[in-house]
Amino acid sequence: MAFTIAIDGPAASGKGTISREVARVFGCAHLDTGLLYRAVGRRMLDGEPPIEAARALCAADLEVEGLRTPGVGDAASKVAVIPEVRAALVDFQRAFARRDGGAVLDGRDIGTVICPEAEAKLFVIASPEVRARRRYDEYVTAGESVDFDRVLEDVRARDERDMGRADAPLRPAEDAVQIDTTTLSIDEAVATAIAAIEARGGVR
Ligand code: DC
Repeated sequence: MAFTIAIDGPAASGKGTISREVARVFGCAHLDTGLLYRAVGRRMLDGEPPIEAARALCAADLEVEGLRTPGVGDAASKVAVIPEVRAALVDFQRAFARRDGGAVLDGRDIGTVICPEAEAKLFVIASPEVRARRRYDEYVTAGESVDFDRVLEDVRARDERDMGRADAPLRPAEDAVQIDTTTLSIDEAVATAIAAIEARGGVR
């Protein structure tokens, strides 16, 4: 049976970690839709026109190393404002969402545009400072050399771009359950998410 769990929120809100755990607990597939935009952003940095890149995107592009670097994240948020890029990625996401066995999709517009019919919708937020700290720690762990103030600036710039764009801006669906992870541990955030999904009929 198809059961779609839509998890949206800004960069480094904790939605990626929550999504992976939720997919494990409910035994369903997981798609980090940010990777689609990152793959297009990566191809743009390599000189390919982004609309063509989005139309030609295939599964192998999502396995490319280096999609989670700051430069590619910035490029992703730039290509994500282009309506034709977004349109080219819709069918893949919707097909993924309706697969048998259920699916978790995380991104910015899953509950509002990609899967407005999703059975469960979460909107995950946290303060910009806490999110910048998490991203900074991730980059350091990955061996990237970055400056904290740059990361915070990048988080704020991306929020502005993601929330301010005309096509599919980042915003909670009306029926989304909001989870603020600013002061929550990972375990607490995951437990809150699981309870919200069970309340919407999700069965482990
Ligand atoms: O979640 P992320 O940081 O990997 O996403 C990178 C960028 O991709 C983000 O700044 C905006 C864009 N994005 C989007 O517009 N819609 C989505 N569903 C997922 C990501």
